[in-house]
Amino acid sequence: KPIVLSGCQPSGQLSIGNYIGALRQWVKMQTTHDCRFMLVDLHSITVRQDPAQLRSATLDGLALYMACGLDPEQSTLFVQSHVPEHAQLAWILNCYTQMGELNRMTQFKDKSDRHANNINAGLFTYPALMAADILLYQANEVPVGNDQKQHLELARDVATRFNNIYGDVFTIPEPHIPEVGARVMSLQDPTKKMSKSDDNPNNFIGLLEEPKKIEKKLKRAVTDSDEQARIYFDPTEKAGVSNLLSILSAATGRSIAELVPEYQDKMYGHLKKDTADAVVAMLEPIQERYRNYRENMDFLNEVMAKGAAKASAIAAPTLAKVYDAIGFVPRP
Ligand code: AQP
Repeated sequence: KPIVLSGCQPSGQLSIGNYIGALRQWVKMQTTHDCRFMLVDLHSITVRQDPAQLRSATLDGLALYMACGLDPEQSTLFVQSHVPEHAQLAWILNCYTQMGELNRMTQFKDKSDRHANNINAGLFTYPALMAADILLYQANEVPVGNDQKQHLELARDVATRFNNIYGDVFTIPEPHIPEVGARVMSLQDPTKKMSKSDDNPNNFIGLLEEPKKIEKKLKRAVTDSDEQARIYFDPTEKAGVSNLLSILSAATGRSIAELVPEYQDKMYGHLKKDTADAVVAMLEPIQERYRNYRENMDFLNEVMAKGAAKASAIAAPTLAKVYDAIGFVPRP
């Protein structure tokens, strides 16, 4: 089976964007691929995190992974910082990544604009850590959204450079592009993607939010000032409406082509109400399963321990191969 690796940052509560764009696709891949899914806490500290919140967001994330359908028996589920090889390989790859390459990364530019008071070196070298995450497991495929494509390209370049010097150490990973329409946009600014760490909570819907809040947020979602308030799908001209249609489509499993004729004579309010109902219905069983997992700390610990052991068993030999290739003397 092809090896797949991906993860979410515990930088806040996982959003419907993470679910629709990532988690739901991962669940489907479990039967056809050998999957490893992490909570990337090392990545999340490139932006300042509150320790208590980071701790609970990591455990919430693990419980949510399982509540969304990731199966710890079938896939390897683990916390990135539990497997020290990630940080160790990241250091090495930092030494094989050029400043110029990192300078071209658009996420660094975006994030340093958003966090201008904390433009740290980790934020800059984030792609080297991401390359380490992928290359440690000799992953064949990495599910990525558009925003991460540039980082994966860099991981491929660094791996190729390393292999050219030292021989075949790393598998060169391919992007696995999810279905179209899998990008969920911000509710108040539908030209930006929905982000769980957005300063304005009205921009995103968390997977653990209460029905009333979800309704309120969707009711307030920005549409447009089209006087005839027409409903059709066009992400450029009708960004807000199209985002609602995409969310409704993802939550009901019905295609946009099927939904549009049903709504074209209705009002924005109808679309918002139906989208809210569909999102609430989609999240209800996830929230219920989440509560069961989250209350059972013994089980969460068992999953984390097993996941870390399984991950280390693959990561450690890769790191040893890298150390040997570079010329590090093995620890006696
Ligand atoms: N809005 C989105 N639509 C579709 N997919 C999304 N993903 C994130 N937001 C959307 C996908 O979720 C996976 C995990 O993302 P992440 O947590 O590692 O980081 P991110 O992409 O930076 O997500 P956020 O929510 O925007 O986090 P913050 O706010 O901390 O930066 C990825 O596969 C991503 O594509």
